[in-house]
Amino acid sequence: MANVKFVVQPGGVIKGRIRVPGDKSISHRSIMMGALAEGTTTVTGFLEGADALATLQAFREMGVQIEGPKDGNVTIHGVGLRGLKKPNKPLDMGNSGTSTRLLAGIIAGQNFDCTLVGDASLSTRPMKRVTDPLKLMGAELETEEGGTLPMHIKGSGRALKAIDYTLPMASAQVKSCVLLAGLFAEGKTCALEPAPTRDHTERMLNGFGYEVVSTKLDDHKTKACLTGGGKLTGRHIDVPSDISSAAFFMAAAAVSEGSDLVIEHVGMNPTRTGVVDILKLMGADITLENFHEVGGEPVADVHIKYAPLKGIAIPEELVPLAIDEFPVLFVVAASAEGKTVLTGAEELRVKESDRIQVMVDALQALGIDATPTEDGMIINGGAQSKQSADIQSHHDHRISMAMTVAGLNAVSEVIIDDCANVNTSFPIFLELINQVGMNVTALEEA
Ligand code: S3P
Repeated sequence: MANVKFVVQPGGVIKGRIRVPGDKSISHRSIMMGALAEGTTTVTGFLEGADALATLQAFREMGVQIEGPKDGNVTIHGVGLRGLKKPNKPLDMGNSGTSTRLLAGIIAGQNFDCTLVGDASLSTRPMKRVTDPLKLMGAELETEEGGTLPMHIKGSGRALKAIDYTLPMASAQVKSCVLLAGLFAEGKTCALEPAPTRDHTERMLNGFGYEVVSTKLDDHKTKACLTGGGKLTGRHIDVPSDISSAAFFMAAAAVSEGSDLVIEHVGMNPTRTGVVDILKLMGADITLENFHEVGGEPVADVHIKYAPLKGIAIPEELVPLAIDEFPVLFVVAASAEGKTVLTGAEELRVKESDRIQVMVDALQALGIDATPTEDGMIINGGAQSKQSADIQSHHDHRISMAMTVAGLNAVSEVIIDDCANVNTSFPIFLELINQVGMNVTALEEA
């Protein structure tokens, strides 16, 4: 693949009314559940990014007939819980942790062998967090010694054992893996999470007519349970815009004087809205308008205007609810007056890159006072960066986009290397960021 560099001119005022592409988490799940359902599922607003397309392609290779995507429309001819077929080759998960960890749960319940492989970044990410519970369920899986891809899954044809699993970390991917494997288990499978994480799997299973019971326990914990051997029924899914993609634009408008932006139809699932709460705590002027519900998921238009921001201690309970937004929240903190402290976010170290170290390096390259800690970061914010810089994205789409936004308060050009990865979650990012008032060019190198 050609290397794409983003060359970001400093400054800009963010204005307009935009719609960002469909939610990545919901897009993945729409394909998975559509494939496992009986009957046809139609999807609108599907995210045509590389990650969700990896999931789509994997199900095609397991014999599911899927039409599209075309302009965000997909039709999936479900094969039922027992209808998947052995793929002819290893399934390529590309850069996508969600595809890998959720598919591991589904494939563990099949009666065929299958191998999951991924790109350089994904092949360093921890998979023991899913192989551990799946082994407790009786699945046979093998990874590399360090618990990384490739993952070989052996299909025994036997039903999995239901488990009552306490997650060691707040991870929606692990919770979803356990619940999806639970579809193929005898009895009741439960996943207890240490803090609430995105609940799209639970909502969507219920939407497909498969009962998932979620119980809120004391001390904020949630337990989700389902009984294996039921049936999903095909339906229509309208995917809302991805709040994680909208976050780059919220941040851009929040840090540049004179900005006034509306982002339409953004998914507002309460397990995803930490970014709005954190920006508001920093002083951002955000209003949510036109609240309504689409297919079991709340959506709203986000109206954000520039206001002076201040540094804060980020409440730890908001961390899992904003887990993908920290790269750009660090950029916001760099523009806010005073100190921002993040704790309780060690999960950031095992995302598409080590987002604590990579963002500290990137911010420091711009002359910003940022210090890493084991589980977070301390940033002393101020008005502007002090110098221009060449930044490395480390194969991470959210680093590429966050550091583009950093250009707004930079003193001179910011150049970001290795930005083709933006395509994994947000193929039209460049077009939209220029449309609202930044000046970013993509340079392709052979
Ligand atoms: C996701 C869960 C989160 C998130 C990822 C998408 C999902 O990962 O970072 O981008 O769709 O379930 P973790 O479960 O590892 O926190």
